[in-house]
Amino acid sequence: MPGQKTSILAIETSCDETACSVVAQNSNTNALNILSHQVHSQAKLHAEFGGVFPNLAKREHGKNFVPVLSLCLNQAFNVPLPPNPDSENKDENLIEQNPNLSTETIEKIKYILQKEHDLGPDLVSYLLSISPADFAHIKESLAGIAVTYGPGLEPALWVGISAAKALGIAFDLPLFPINHMEGHIASVLASTGNLEPAGIDFPAIALLISGGHTELVSIDSWHAYTLIGQTVDDAVGEAYDKVARLLGLPYPGGPEISKLADSFRSTIDKEGVSREFTLPRPMIHSKDLNFSFSGLKTAALYAVRDRIKTQNDEPLSQNQKEDLAAEFEQSVIEVLLSKTKKAILEQGSKSLIIGGGVISNHFIRENFKNLCRELNIPLLIPEAVLATDNASMIGLVALLQVKDGQPGIPCSGFDQIKAQGNLSFSK
Ligand code: KG4
Ligand code: ZN
Repeated sequence: MPGQKTSILAIETSCDETACSVVAQNSNTNALNILSHQVHSQAKLHAEFGGVFPNLAKREHGKNFVPVLSLCLNQAFNVPLPPNPDSENKDENLIEQNPNLSTETIEKIKYILQKEHDLGPDLVSYLLSISPADFAHIKESLAGIAVTYGPGLEPALWVGISAAKALGIAFDLPLFPINHMEGHIASVLASTGNLEPAGIDFPAIALLISGGHTELVSIDSWHAYTLIGQTVDDAVGEAYDKVARLLGLPYPGGPEISKLADSFRSTIDKEGVSREFTLPRPMIHSKDLNFSFSGLKTAALYAVRDRIKTQNDEPLSQNQKEDLAAEFEQSVIEVLLSKTKKAILEQGSKSLIIGGGVISNHFIRENFKNLCRELNIPLLIPEAVLATDNASMIGLVALLQVKDGQPGIPCSGFDQIKAQGNLSFSK
């Protein structure tokens, strides 16, 4: 017998990706379906400045939100794309014609969006442009709206939260405020196609490596997380980005460093070229499960400066850059493997989940595959589109909550939902 479908509209704006998804679950079989997965990245814009600027990110989320949302609802529910948002006075005409939203509801939505200057007028116009039939179809299809409320850049988080509240009021749907890091963990569910897959045994360990985080999390069940290790300074991705900048490479630096390191390793394999640089393995022997990557970046800076001095101010050759990148990546992987292995053995973990943007790095993936082979436990890695920031992973956490009987927060409780830039798992 086909089961009832639970669908969630999910929103993610914690950093430099504006993302909306609709994810669905069959409540009999737990089979998962991603009905729409839309991501707009601001990475190119921030590349000019070498990092993500919170207020620039906020403005861009505001401008891009309605285009991303409308593509998402078009793909998931066949809602036609909105008319040109620049057309004048449309607002007033549509209010008179629109049976979906009372004047009072429209005023409430405008109040919620009052601080979101780049988002507010576009979102209201879009809601008013949806036909009554499509409006009813969206409302009936969704069980709620999930939104990232932290950790992340607060001005950026607020855009998604305000949009989610406005949509919650418009469609009279509950909100599910979601921890972004929990999303990275749940992202592995998508590739299993099921909300309760065989092959993820608890207790599990998750290693989360991104531009903002480096965390080891112990997982007793999908709802019970304990932070058992984290970076005491820079995140892994941040170290990649900073070393890339040192070598004159664009942001985000991870893929650039990875290419150089790959190229060096393939040369070594063929020609046995020796390494010119030796970098430290920070905190590899510390008794705890914490990491530090700031010293590694500084050591790379000094190594480059000293090398330039010894070669009479000649900049590093391509070969030297590749050498440094490979030594940096070797240090990163040795530290990550050592701490993760220690965590697995200490906690008696039965599976390893790895997530976050840095996991796109195939050298890191291969090394973790080998570790799990050695320890004889399954390794779960999200597919590429779910490894970097996206909204599907946020929707998956909400589906887990719905499955667990959580009703979400009704409109009357929206005031309590606030951005929490430093949100973290309990220790
Ligand atoms: O999870 P993510 O998309 O955004 C957050 O930081 O939350 O991660 C982005 C980070 C950036 O620091 C980027 O340089 C890094 O992931 N990254 C990589 C690779 N691709 C992206 N780092 C190493 N190797 C890669 N191939
Ligand atoms: Zn992330």
